[in-house]
Amino acid sequence: MDRISIVGGSRLEGTLAISGAKNATLPLMIASLLTSERLTLKNVPNLADVITLGRILRNHGVDLAVDGKRADPSPYQGETFHLTAREIVDTTAPYEMVNRMRASFWVLGPLLARCGEARVSMPGGCAIGTRPVDLHLMGLKTLGAEIDIDGGYVVARARKGLHGARVIFPKVSVGATHAVLMTAALIKGETVIENAAREPEIGDVAECLVKMGARIEGIGTSTLRIQGTDRLEGAVHTVLPDRIETGTYAFAVAAAGGDVELRGARKGLLETALTTLERIGVAIAETPAGVRVTRNGGALEPITIETQPFPGFPTDLQAQLMALMTKANGTSVIRETIFENRFMHVQELVRLGADIQLQGDTAVIKGVKSLRGAQVMATDLRASVSLVIAGLMAEGKTTINRVYHLDRGFERLEQKLSGCGASIERLVSG
Ligand code: UD1
Repeated sequence: MDRISIVGGSRLEGTLAISGAKNATLPLMIASLLTSERLTLKNVPNLADVITLGRILRNHGVDLAVDGKRADPSPYQGETFHLTAREIVDTTAPYEMVNRMRASFWVLGPLLARCGEARVSMPGGCAIGTRPVDLHLMGLKTLGAEIDIDGGYVVARARKGLHGARVIFPKVSVGATHAVLMTAALIKGETVIENAAREPEIGDVAECLVKMGARIEGIGTSTLRIQGTDRLEGAVHTVLPDRIETGTYAFAVAAAGGDVELRGARKGLLETALTTLERIGVAIAETPAGVRVTRNGGALEPITIETQPFPGFPTDLQAQLMALMTKANGTSVIRETIFENRFMHVQELVRLGADIQLQGDTAVIKGVKSLRGAQVMATDLRASVSLVIAGLMAEGKTTINRVYHLDRGFERLEQKLSGCGASIERLVSG
């Protein structure tokens, strides 16, 4: 397995291109199941999760074509995918495919809406808590699905067809909102989703569904009103920039010190995270091309914060923030309210010399003067990248093992950081 080696202490300077959002790309690719026409997605990031989902969709019968290299002055526009689900030939998403990535479970609703039946393995993905699917199933049942669990598979049928309905989520779920939104787009009648997640990636999918022929009101709010149709059309859609990647590199610049323009980033997608960085002592400025992040040697102020659904501080940046706070000028308190087991980076940060105490869902981080490089283990996607941030701050060499987690969600991470002056390289296993 590949490893990443970092020698800490270099400032980051220059520009760094932000890719298309993984968490929008995945549901957008799944939306191709809703139409027999071609869905073209631009600015698709080259990530392991995208490749895995492509494999799953092809198994259902989706033709996936990727445009070749173009003579484009900006090499980091992402890829262009053309997805055509002319005929769904298989409504089963098997265990061997779904267990690698939780979002692949989201094919359930669109397959059901299109074909009247679907059989999808219960999901895998990052081991960051129990991550049940009860809200997904509740949503689909409300739309008229009959659901059974059989041998580790969710078997969904809609003998009498699905119908629009009012779906009230007792808890905010990104995935369940995507699932009901996409399904409702291909059902006759009106569906109202109450307490919908408001993450920008949901808005991106909703806008794509509108291009495909659905009528959706309330995009960006917690009440989505969807007028579905029995036939959706093809469309062309550009994936929005990745706000978690943006936040991660902003935290990296804060950690290493320096001055970097994050090209293609959209400040409005992560106001809470960027305001948090400003409170910590980092300068943030919107530029015509993106967002500029500057820290010139000033102290890092400690912070007390809790993760919340959008527009709150994202759980997907919690580990990165914690890495930064290990060297703050005082004690920080971070409470994780979304996932119960999302502290697996803590023991690895402690190996680098961090002082972190866990009390249930809360981490108390006492800033230390310095971290020292060591061997650490990547445990999940966002935890892995927090170790990269810690490695940039640490004295000496940090080696991160099991980096396949990173490849699931961060495109060309070493190139992007080394392009700004970081001393980072991938050690490819024989
Ligand atoms: C998505 C994101 C992930 C992010 C998370 C929260 C993608 C591909 N993944 O994951 O990066 O960390 O949102 O912002 O977009 N829950 C239930 N029952 C359910 C579904 C969820 O109890 O049926 C719980 C989960 O255990 C968790 C909370 O709801 O405690 C939020 O999870 P959810 O928003 O669904 O996360 P994902 O969609 O899996």
